[in-house]
Amino acid sequence: MLDVVVLVSGGGTNLQAIIDAVEAGSITNTRITGVISNNKNAYALERAKKHGIANRCISPKKFASREAFNDKFIEAIDEWKPDLIVLAGFLVVIPPAMIEKYRNRIINIHPSLIPSFCGTGFYGLKVHEAALARGVKVVGATVHFVDEGTDTGPIILQKAVEVEQGDTPEVLQKRVMEQAEWKILPHAIDLIANGKVSVCDGKAVISL
Ligand code: GAR
Repeated sequence: MLDVVVLVSGGGTNLQAIIDAVEAGSITNTRITGVISNNKNAYALERAKKHGIANRCISPKKFASREAFNDKFIEAIDEWKPDLIVLAGFLVVIPPAMIEKYRNRIINIHPSLIPSFCGTGFYGLKVHEAALARGVKVVGATVHFVDEGTDTGPIILQKAVEVEQGDTPEVLQKRVMEQAEWKILPHAIDLIANGKVSVCDGKAVISL
């Protein structure tokens, strides 16, 4: 059984997609043992509560220094002994000590086809604004392992989505979520839970 802790900051639609897939049996051998938000008003916490999933808020704002926050944050995660940590719209920088400790056991969903529109400053709606400003015709989403860089870790799954005439960043964001994010994130978790993902020479390899 893969014990998963999900980290969130906002609405939690990706968290919901994971919960639904576990409940529907399309993610197997998996249970969500906890949800952590850095933002006490995140609707994602309500979603966890509604499904009886343990949840808590740990905000960097409540600590005197980033080091103090990082220590408490890692401690909180360790308490749930996760096999996998999922960043589902989590907007806080992951402490390097945590990346080291959970090497190839932290995954992130990013709303673009990496290496396009990723890295520092590219998150949420900003990604879709940049894609429309550049005039690309195909966008998408990526699930990847988290390493020390920003959006640089081994890529597990990607899915492309077409840009349509007249798209606004909000409309495009919704299409990318519906057609890509909510599908590839649960799929990646199921693959990991069933031992089908390994990392070799810095690249994720899927065995089917
Ligand atoms: C999602 O689009 C996710 O891909 C993005 O934030 C949104 C969270 O939505 N993450 C990033 O931009 C990370 N760089 P949600 O709270 O409804 O799942």
